[in-house]
Amino acid sequence: MFQPVKIAPSILSANFMSFQADIDLIERAGAGYVHYDVIDGHFAPNLTVGIPVLKQLVKSTSLPVDVHLMIDNPERELPWFLDVLQGAADPTACVVTVHAEALYGPQLARAVEVIHAAGCKAAVALKPCTPVAVLAPVIAELEMVLVMSVEPGFSGQSYIEGSDAKVAEVVALARAAGASPLIEVDGGVGVATAPLLAAAGADVLVCGNAVFAAEDPAAALMRIEQAADEAREATLAAQA
Ligand code: DX5
Ligand code: ZN
Repeated sequence: MFQPVKIAPSILSANFMSFQADIDLIERAGAGYVHYDVIDGHFAPNLTVGIPVLKQLVKSTSLPVDVHLMIDNPERELPWFLDVLQGAADPTACVVTVHAEALYGPQLARAVEVIHAAGCKAAVALKPCTPVAVLAPVIAELEMVLVMSVEPGFSGQSYIEGSDAKVAEVVALARAAGASPLIEVDGGVGVATAPLLAAAGADVLVCGNAVFAAEDPAAALMRIEQAADEAREATLAAQA
């Protein structure tokens, strides 16, 4: 059955002075997730939001929250985030993403186990230069893989060309492992890049500026999803 692409608007581009209005807006426009970017100023430049804002957010939306941890030593802070997500409308629909570059050796599999033990979905993110092969030891355990199409840190950057080819590589690795995690792409995604990514196998598209900086954010979200769905349908039809 055809599964539409989901749009995950990134809160980094929202207006924190009227945050609830922005959350309600994306919910009404049909967003699949709220993408919550946590940056610690060490793993990546920028200092964003953490536990206190997440506590408010989970009480204020029925959308699943997709927590993207761009932090050093995520093992230390994971329990805090997982604890807060227990207060979400459906904690089992929420996703927690850790970066492969922040975890060494057995730490990556351990972080995935900790996320699962809390009943949430686990994802691993890759920076643009990180090879897809690092996913091999854990791919069978993941509900989602996040392919970054910009360097982590700021919204509003330009999409790095070739990120769609990386999505296709993840699809191939997952297939070879008999796994089928969702594939999410994050960074510079908009109406021009969404079709390429959807055709390559992306299931979830994070959109910061392309949604919140648009004159009509709801219309922008729907346009991006429609462009992605059309490309996905055409690709499936061509493969059939
Ligand atoms: C960047 C964040 C992204 C960012 C996306 O480090 O992970 O989620 O906010 O914003 P846009 O879509 O504007 O690139
Ligand atoms: Zn992100």
